[in-house]
Amino acid sequence: MNNRRFKTLTTAVVAVCTLATMFVVSNVQAKKPFSGAEAEDQVNMLMAAVKRGDDLWHNPKLGTNGLACGNCHPDGSASNPHTWPKYQTNLGKVGTLREMINWCISVPMLGKPLAPDSDDMIAMEAYAMYTHRGVAIAPAKDEQHGAVPVVSGPGYPNADSGNR
Ligand code: HEC
Repeated sequence: MNNRRFKTLTTAVVAVCTLATMFVVSNVQAKKPFSGAEAEDQVNMLMAAVKRGDDLWHNPKLGTNGLACGNCHPDGSASNPHTWPKYQTNLGKVGTLREMINWCISVPMLGKPLAPDSDDMIAMEAYAMYTHRGVAIAPAKDEQHGAVPVVSGPGYPNADSGNR
């Protein structure tokens, strides 16, 4: 076998082996697609967090002066979750949505900040984000954006309104 044929043969063997390995590995690693029921469960879990956030958003128990987020941010309005992270003068740094939520709990509502990873904080974030679904992510953008009230999901009256 001359040198050129040997090189061609080696390249072919390497290519076949690589493809075979990729095939085996992808089959081993491939996950089955979620079933319709599993996907539905996942949406329901998210909607339960949104519902929990909605309840907290409209509940003065996070503060001590009778105010709730909803008094100043009805339906999540003016919370602008799509603009975070950004520099915020009250925080004095580039901060996160969760830090801003805690600022509003501590300052206008005179309450105790939530643990950033708590289920309550995740629920608040889920509610704020969900009411802004479809709004373009725009870090630092200083704008007020109309939020969409949540009307469907577990605990909401119109389960099939399509407002997801
Ligand atoms: C008494 C009124 C009041 C209440 C109650 C209140 N906020 Fe605010 N919130 C404000 C004001 C005023 C600002 C703007 C602060 C600034 O830009 O200096 C703000 C800003 C925010 C922002 C940032 C908005 C942006 O433009 O990026 C978020 C997020 C937010 N609030 C969430 C909440 C949440 C969640 C609650 C309830 C835990 C809450 N707020 C309760 C008055 C309030």
